Amino acid sequence: MIKINENFLQLEENYLFSTINKKVSEYQKENPNAKIIKLGIGDVTRPLPQIVVEAIKKSADEMGNINTFRGYGPEQGYEFLKDKIIENEYKNLGIKSNEIFISDGAKCDTGGIIEIFNPNIKVGIMNPVYPVYLDTNVMYGTAGKYDQTTKQYSNIIYINSTENNNFLPKPSELTEIPDLIYICSPNNPTGVAMNAELLKSWVEFAKQNKSIILFDSAYKAFIEEDNIPHSIYEIEGAKEVAIEFKSYSKTAGFTGLRCAYTVVPQECVANYKAGEKDISLNKLWNRRTTTKFNGVSYITQRAAESIYTEEGKKAIKENIDYYKENAKILLDGLKKAGIQCYGGINSPYVWLKTPNGISSWEYFDILLKKYNIVGTPGVGFGTNGEGYFRLTAFGDKAKTIEAMERLTK
Ligand code: MLT
Repeated sequence: MIKINENFLQLEENYLFSTINKKVSEYQKENPNAKIIKLGIGDVTRPLPQIVVEAIKKSADEMGNINTFRGYGPEQGYEFLKDKIIENEYKNLGIKSNEIFISDGAKCDTGGIIEIFNPNIKVGIMNPVYPVYLDTNVMYGTAGKYDQTTKQYSNIIYINSTENNNFLPKPSELTEIPDLIYICSPNNPTGVAMNAELLKSWVEFAKQNKSIILFDSAYKAFIEEDNIPHSIYEIEGAKEVAIEFKSYSKTAGFTGLRCAYTVVPQECVANYKAGEKDISLNKLWNRRTTTKFNGVSYITQRAAESIYTEEGKKAIKENIDYYKENAKILLDGLKKAGIQCYGGINSPYVWLKTPNGISSWEYFDILLKKYNIVGTPGVGFGTNGEGYFRLTAFGDKAKTIEAMERLTK
């Protein structure tokens, strides 16, 4: 008799952003005249830069010509894009072409990477954090059993990221040693970023304990303060213990186009049995990639390549600056409304404390029904997110201003 993967039964019925979309659509249906401002999911609103559009058109023409048509590309990505990544993102950091895997999104890679590890390892996940890390561990079976009372999984080491540690947990605060550690910096949802000293302490911890760090820096384009690493490989020795995920979604407005990359250094190894030889994680990820993926489209990779031209760099910076202004509008507006908030400096996300201690979902309902503003309930990112709420700076500027006017009135 056919049976399902029971791990799926331990998940919330819907993915966080699907639940939000459902609630918002229902409300809009019942209130067709409501002018809803969406500051929930971190989806970009600025159009693609002209140079990216030109690259798409040019490569589409190539695909329609017998002399330049291309079928399957390398599963790991074309060299022309990898060369640009090395030159622009990893100058002097010693990352090699065969360590870069171009993909269709950091969500797919951060969600899929667990497959190369043993399901019995102990996984450390910040609480709160991007829900994909936990949900995919639940699906894979690494998370253990769900406890209805604590709302936590038995095999996950929850790394508290709260006001008490300024949302920046240190390895010294751990009471158990994780084999795998997910770090998202600048963080989704809290909007805070780890400085070099703190990141160094995580790298040293991983080296001492033979753990691996999964470093998600999808929001690195928003870093503006000094001493915040844009890549974990800026930390000495990180190549031995860290896999890095980067994305063009938030950097270059590719949420609809889909392109990202994962770096798995050759030095990154893990054991499978005491006394046995270490195995290269690069080799495993390569095996997994070539089996499950046929590469990102040639057109999309040409589009990604174009952002590394002078014109491309200028255009994506303008978009990032636009979102950064929105973040400032959010921070100023919320402060004016007397709401305590965090993030929004090195990040497109503003993390706010709900007024009067009301729950995240209650606040969601109030914002939706009273102010017609959509945000993301903090508790959707983990139990420590209860009583918090996330707003995104990726919206339209006029609408962001209007949202803050509605709140401050
Ligand atoms: C978010 O809103 O947290 C992000 O848009 C989700 C994602 O990047 O998948």
